[in-house]
Amino acid sequence: MNGIPLEQSTQTQSMAVSHHSEMALQLSEVSKSFSNGQGGTSVHVLDQISLDVKKGEFVSIIGPSGSGKSTLFHLIGGLIKPDQGTISIHDQIVTGETGHVSYMPQQPALFPWRTIQDNVILAQELTGRSKKELRSEAASWLEKAGLKGYENAYPHMLSGGMQQRAAFVRAMMSPHELMLLDEPFSALDALTRSEMQRWLLAQWEEYRRSVLFVTHSIEEALLLSDSIYVLSHRPARVIERVQVPFPRPRREELTRSTEFVELKHHLSSLLKQEQGQG
Ligand SMILES: Nc1ncnc2c1ncn2[C@@H]1O[C@H](COP(=O)(O)OP(=O)(O)O)[C@@H](O)[C@H]1O
Ligand SMILES: [Mg+2]
Repeated sequence: MNGIPLEQSTQTQSMAVSHHSEMALQLSEVSKSFSNGQGGTSVHVLDQISLDVKKGEFVSIIGPSGSGKSTLFHLIGGLIKPDQGTISIHDQIVTGETGHVSYMPQQPALFPWRTIQDNVILAQELTGRSKKELRSEAASWLEKAGLKGYENAYPHMLSGGMQQRAAFVRAMMSPHELMLLDEPFSALDALTRSEMQRWLLAQWEEYRRSVLFVTHSIEEALLLSDSIYVLSHRPARVIERVQVPFPRPRREELTRSTEFVELKHHLSSLLKQEQGQG
Protein backbone atom coordinates (compact mmCIF):
# COMPACT_ATOMS: atom_id res chain seq x y z
CA MET A 1 0.00 0.00 0.00
CA ASN A 2 2.75 2.44 0.82
CA GLY A 3 5.14 1.46 -1.88
CA ILE A 4 7.17 -0.92 0.22
CA PRO A 5 10.03 -2.22 -1.92
CA LEU A 6 10.23 -5.98 -1.87
CA GLU A 7 13.42 -6.71 -3.70
CA GLN A 8 15.29 -3.55 -4.53
CA SER A 9 18.09 -2.44 -2.26
CA THR A 10 18.41 1.26 -1.46
CA GLN A 11 21.50 1.39 -3.58
CA THR A 12 20.02 0.05 -6.82
CA GLN A 13 17.07 2.33 -6.19
CA SER A 14 19.11 5.51 -5.99
CA MET A 15 21.27 4.48 -8.96
CA ALA A 16 18.17 3.88 -11.02
CA VAL A 17 16.94 7.37 -10.13
CA SER A 18 20.15 9.24 -10.85
CA HIS A 19 20.84 7.59 -14.21
CA HIS A 20 17.41 8.25 -15.61
CA SER A 21 16.16 11.32 -17.42
CA GLU A 22 14.40 14.34 -16.04
CA MET A 23 10.91 12.82 -15.95
CA ALA A 24 9.69 11.45 -12.61
CA LEU A 25 6.15 10.62 -13.74
CA GLN A 26 4.35 10.55 -17.04
CA LEU A 27 0.70 9.65 -17.58
CA SER A 28 -0.35 9.22 -21.15
CA GLU A 29 -4.08 9.25 -21.98
CA VAL A 30 -5.14 7.32 -18.90
CA SER A 31 -8.83 6.41 -18.74
CA LYS A 32 -10.77 4.57 -16.05
CA SER A 33 -14.38 3.51 -15.54
CA PHE A 34 -15.90 1.58 -12.66
CA SER A 35 -18.80 -0.80 -13.12
CA ASN A 36 -21.26 -1.31 -10.30
CA GLY A 37 -20.57 -5.03 -10.39
CA GLN A 38 -24.16 -5.98 -11.31
CA GLY A 39 -23.54 -5.68 -15.03
CA GLY A 40 -25.48 -2.41 -14.93
CA THR A 41 -24.29 1.14 -15.34
CA SER A 42 -20.64 2.04 -15.24
CA VAL A 43 -19.16 5.29 -14.01
CA HIS A 44 -16.65 6.94 -16.29
CA VAL A 45 -14.22 8.57 -13.84
CA LEU A 46 -11.07 9.54 -15.76
CA ASP A 47 -11.02 10.50 -19.42
CA GLN A 48 -7.67 10.43 -21.22
CA ILE A 49 -5.63 12.09 -18.52
CA SER A 50 -2.11 13.06 -19.58
CA LEU A 51 0.19 14.72 -17.10
CA ASP A 52 3.81 14.80 -16.07
CA VAL A 53 6.02 15.57 -13.12
CA LYS A 54 9.65 16.40 -13.83
CA LYS A 55 12.30 15.24 -11.42
CA GLY A 56 12.33 17.53 -8.39
CA GLU A 57 9.12 19.26 -9.41
CA PHE A 58 6.17 19.95 -7.08
CA VAL A 59 2.96 19.46 -9.04
CA SER A 60 -0.56 19.85 -7.67
CA ILE A 61 -3.91 18.58 -8.86
CA ILE A 62 -7.08 20.45 -8.07
CA GLY A 63 -10.54 19.44 -9.19
CA PRO A 64 -14.11 19.08 -7.97
CA SER A 65 -14.80 16.56 -5.24
CA GLY A 66 -15.52 13.13 -6.77
CA SER A 67 -13.70 13.99 -9.99
CA GLY A 68 -11.30 11.07 -9.61
CA LYS A 69 -8.20 12.51 -7.95
CA SER A 70 -7.77 9.67 -5.46
CA THR A 71 -8.53 7.18 -8.25
CA LEU A 72 -5.66 8.72 -10.20
CA PHE A 73 -3.35 8.05 -7.25
CA HIS A 74 -4.59 4.46 -6.94
CA LEU A 75 -3.69 4.01 -10.62
CA ILE A 76 -0.23 5.55 -10.25
CA GLY A 77 0.40 3.43 -7.15
CA GLY A 78 -0.64 0.34 -9.12
CA LEU A 79 -3.48 -0.55 -6.74
CA ILE A 80 -5.85 -0.61 -9.73
CA LYS A 81 -5.28 -0.79 -13.49
CA PRO A 82 -6.37 1.76 -16.09
CA ASP A 83 -8.71 0.74 -18.92
CA GLN A 84 -6.48 2.61 -21.33
CA GLY A 85 -3.24 4.55 -21.28
CA THR A 86 0.21 4.14 -19.79
CA ILE A 87 1.97 5.23 -16.63
CA SER A 88 5.76 5.70 -16.52
CA ILE A 89 7.88 6.40 -13.47
CA HIS A 90 11.46 7.53 -14.08
CA ASP A 91 11.02 6.51 -17.74
CA GLN A 92 9.99 2.97 -16.95
CA ILE A 93 6.49 1.83 -17.89
CA VAL A 94 4.91 0.61 -14.65
CA THR A 95 1.20 0.53 -15.55
CA GLY A 96 -0.58 -1.68 -12.99
CA GLU A 97 2.57 -2.29 -10.91
CA THR A 98 2.94 -1.50 -7.22
CA GLY A 99 6.15 -0.63 -5.38
CA HIS A 100 7.40 2.39 -7.35
CA VAL A 101 6.12 5.35 -5.36
CA SER A 102 5.90 6.73 -1.87
CA TYR A 103 2.18 7.14 -1.29
CA MET A 104 0.49 9.01 1.52
CA PRO A 105 -3.24 8.24 1.41
CA GLN A 106 -6.02 10.66 2.32
CA GLN A 107 -6.46 9.10 5.78
CA PRO A 108 -3.25 8.67 7.78
CA ALA A 109 -2.67 4.93 7.84
CA LEU A 110 -0.31 4.30 10.73
CA PHE A 111 -0.20 0.80 12.14
CA PRO A 112 -1.72 1.03 15.64
CA TRP A 113 0.49 -1.75 17.01
CA ARG A 114 3.76 -0.08 15.98
CA THR A 115 5.40 2.83 17.73
CA ILE A 116 5.70 6.11 15.83
CA GLN A 117 9.37 5.44 15.23
CA ASP A 118 8.72 1.94 13.91
CA ASN A 119 5.88 3.23 11.73
CA VAL A 120 8.09 5.77 9.99
CA ILE A 121 10.96 3.37 9.25
CA LEU A 122 8.61 0.76 7.80
CA ALA A 123 9.41 1.21 4.11
CA GLN A 124 13.15 1.30 4.77
CA GLU A 125 13.20 -1.78 6.98
CA LEU A 126 12.99 -4.11 4.00
CA THR A 127 15.93 -2.49 2.23
CA GLY A 128 18.40 -4.17 4.58
CA ARG A 129 19.61 -1.05 6.38
CA SER A 130 20.30 -1.50 10.06
CA LYS A 131 17.48 -0.71 12.45
CA LYS A 132 19.80 1.37 14.59
CA GLU A 133 20.75 3.61 11.67
CA LEU A 134 17.11 3.90 10.57
CA ARG A 135 15.95 4.81 14.07
CA SER A 136 18.50 7.58 14.32
CA GLU A 137 17.47 8.92 10.91
CA ALA A 138 13.83 8.67 12.03
CA ALA A 139 14.61 10.56 15.23
CA SER A 140 16.04 13.48 13.31
CA TRP A 141 13.04 13.58 10.94
CA LEU A 142 10.59 13.31 13.83
CA GLU A 143 12.32 16.21 15.53
CA LYS A 144 11.93 18.34 12.38
CA ALA A 145 8.26 17.39 12.34
CA GLY A 146 7.81 18.55 15.94
CA LEU A 147 7.43 15.00 17.21
CA LYS A 148 10.51 14.79 19.39
CA GLY A 149 9.70 12.73 22.47
CA TYR A 150 7.00 10.72 20.68
CA GLU A 151 9.35 8.15 19.10
CA ASN A 152 8.07 5.38 21.34
CA ALA A 153 4.45 6.50 21.55
CA TYR A 154 1.67 4.63 19.74
CA PRO A 155 -0.47 6.37 17.09
CA HIS A 156 -3.60 6.62 19.29
CA MET A 157 -1.63 8.78 21.73
CA LEU A 158 -1.15 11.50 19.07
CA SER A 159 -3.55 14.17 17.78
CA GLY A 160 -4.76 14.00 14.17
CA GLY A 161 -2.23 16.61 13.06
CA MET A 162 0.60 14.76 14.77
CA GLN A 163 -0.42 11.48 13.16
CA GLN A 164 -0.49 13.22 9.80
CA ARG A 165 3.01 14.55 10.34
CA ALA A 166 4.23 11.07 11.30
CA ALA A 167 2.65 9.66 8.13
CA PHE A 168 4.38 12.41 6.21
CA VAL A 169 7.75 11.59 7.78
CA ARG A 170 7.19 7.98 6.76
CA ALA A 171 6.61 9.11 3.16
CA MET A 172 9.75 11.28 3.31
CA MET A 173 11.77 8.30 4.55
CA SER A 174 10.55 6.04 1.77
CA PRO A 175 13.28 4.95 -0.65
CA HIS A 176 11.06 6.00 -3.55
CA GLU A 177 11.88 9.36 -5.05
CA LEU A 178 8.34 10.20 -6.24
CA MET A 179 5.85 11.11 -3.53
CA LEU A 180 2.08 11.10 -3.94
CA LEU A 181 0.30 13.16 -1.31
CA ASP A 182 -3.50 12.93 -1.33
CA GLU A 183 -5.02 15.93 0.49
CA PRO A 184 -2.63 15.49 3.39
CA PHE A 185 -3.93 18.48 5.34
CA SER A 186 -7.67 18.22 4.73
CA ALA A 187 -8.48 16.78 8.16
CA LEU A 188 -6.54 19.45 10.05
CA ASP A 189 -7.84 22.64 11.65
CA ALA A 190 -6.95 25.88 9.85
CA LEU A 191 -4.07 26.86 12.12
CA THR A 192 -2.40 23.44 12.06
CA ARG A 193 -2.97 23.34 8.34
CA SER A 194 -1.14 26.57 7.65
CA GLU A 195 1.70 25.50 9.96
CA MET A 196 1.94 22.22 8.07
CA GLN A 197 1.94 24.04 4.71
CA ARG A 198 4.87 26.18 5.81
CA TRP A 199 6.62 23.11 7.15
CA LEU A 200 6.12 21.13 3.94
CA LEU A 201 7.25 24.10 1.84
CA ALA A 202 10.47 24.40 3.84
CA GLN A 203 11.14 20.64 3.78
CA TRP A 204 10.50 20.42 0.07
CA GLU A 205 12.64 23.44 -0.75
CA GLU A 206 15.48 21.79 1.15
CA TYR A 207 15.08 18.21 -0.14
CA ARG A 208 13.47 18.68 -3.58
CA ARG A 209 11.64 15.42 -4.05
CA SER A 210 9.33 14.88 -6.99
CA VAL A 211 5.83 15.42 -5.62
CA LEU A 212 2.31 15.01 -6.93
CA PHE A 213 -0.06 16.67 -4.50
CA VAL A 214 -3.85 16.69 -4.37
CA THR A 215 -5.53 19.56 -2.58
CA HIS A 216 -8.87 21.34 -2.34
CA SER A 217 -7.17 24.59 -1.54
CA ILE A 218 -6.18 26.80 -4.47
CA GLU A 219 -4.05 28.95 -2.18
CA GLU A 220 -2.20 25.90 -0.89
CA ALA A 221 -1.58 24.70 -4.46
CA LEU A 222 -0.27 28.12 -5.51
CA LEU A 223 1.99 28.49 -2.49
CA LEU A 224 3.58 25.05 -2.84
CA SER A 225 3.62 24.15 -6.53
CA ASP A 226 5.69 24.63 -9.64
CA SER A 227 2.69 23.73 -11.71
CA ILE A 228 -1.00 22.92 -11.21
CA TYR A 229 -3.33 20.69 -13.19
CA VAL A 230 -7.00 21.59 -13.05
CA LEU A 231 -9.37 18.66 -13.57
CA SER A 232 -12.92 18.92 -14.85
CA HIS A 233 -16.04 17.44 -13.32
CA ARG A 234 -16.49 13.68 -13.94
CA PRO A 235 -15.36 12.18 -16.26
CA ALA A 236 -12.24 14.13 -15.36
CA ARG A 237 -10.19 15.68 -18.13
CA VAL A 238 -7.27 18.06 -17.73
CA ILE A 239 -8.79 21.45 -18.46
CA GLU A 240 -5.69 23.51 -17.81
CA ARG A 241 -2.11 23.28 -16.67
CA VAL A 242 -0.96 26.43 -14.91
CA GLN A 243 2.74 27.17 -14.44
CA VAL A 244 3.31 28.90 -11.11
CA PRO A 245 5.90 31.61 -11.72
CA PHE A 246 6.84 32.64 -8.18
CA PRO A 247 10.52 32.32 -7.21
CA ARG A 248 11.65 30.27 -4.22
CA PRO A 249 12.08 30.28 -1.35
CA ARG A 250 8.47 31.37 -0.99
CA ARG A 251 6.96 33.06 2.01
CA GLU A 252 3.41 33.57 3.14
CA GLU A 253 3.54 37.27 2.15
CA LEU A 254 3.46 36.01 -1.43
CA THR A 255 -0.23 35.20 -0.98
CA ARG A 256 -0.98 38.94 -0.80
CA SER A 257 0.83 39.89 -4.02
CA THR A 258 -1.21 41.03 -7.03
CA GLU A 259 0.05 38.24 -9.26
CA PHE A 260 -0.85 35.60 -6.66
CA VAL A 261 -4.33 37.01 -6.17
CA GLU A 262 -4.91 37.15 -9.94
CA LEU A 263 -3.85 33.53 -10.44
CA LYS A 264 -6.02 32.53 -7.50
CA HIS A 265 -9.05 34.20 -9.11
CA HIS A 266 -8.31 32.54 -12.42
CA LEU A 267 -8.13 29.07 -10.84
CA SER A 268 -11.18 29.58 -8.68
CA SER A 269 -13.28 30.67 -11.64
CA LEU A 270 -12.19 27.56 -13.55
CA LEU A 271 -13.17 25.39 -10.60
CA LYS A 272 -16.49 27.18 -10.08
CA GLN A 273 -17.46 26.48 -13.69
CA GLU A 274 -16.69 22.80 -13.12
CA GLN A 275 -18.43 22.59 -9.77
CA GLY A 276 -21.47 24.22 -11.33
CA GLN A 277 -21.82 21.19 -13.56
CA GLY A 278 -21.70 18.80 -10.59
N1 LIG B 1 -13.41 1.04 -6.48
C1 LIG B 1 -14.40 1.82 -6.94
N2 LIG B 1 -15.54 1.27 -7.42
C2 LIG B 1 -16.53 2.05 -7.90
N3 LIG B 1 -16.51 3.40 -7.93
C3 LIG B 1 -15.40 4.00 -7.46
C4 LIG B 1 -14.29 3.26 -6.93
N4 LIG B 1 -13.32 4.14 -6.53
C5 LIG B 1 -13.82 5.37 -6.81
N5 LIG B 1 -15.06 5.29 -7.36
C6 LIG B 1 -15.87 6.43 -7.82
O1 LIG B 1 -15.05 7.25 -8.61
C7 LIG B 1 -15.39 8.61 -8.44
C8 LIG B 1 -14.15 9.41 -8.11
O2 LIG B 1 -13.74 9.12 -6.78
P1 LIG B 1 -12.39 9.70 -6.16
O3 LIG B 1 -11.27 9.31 -7.03
O4 LIG B 1 -12.35 9.27 -4.74
O5 LIG B 1 -12.64 11.28 -6.28
P2 LIG B 1 -11.87 12.50 -5.57
O6 LIG B 1 -10.67 11.96 -4.90
O7 LIG B 1 -11.55 13.44 -6.71
O8 LIG B 1 -12.84 13.13 -4.63
C9 LIG B 1 -16.46 8.65 -7.37
O9 LIG B 1 -17.71 8.76 -8.00
C10 LIG B 1 -16.32 7.31 -6.68
O10 LIG B 1 -17.54 6.89 -6.14
MG1 LIG C 1 -10.00 11.97 -2.93
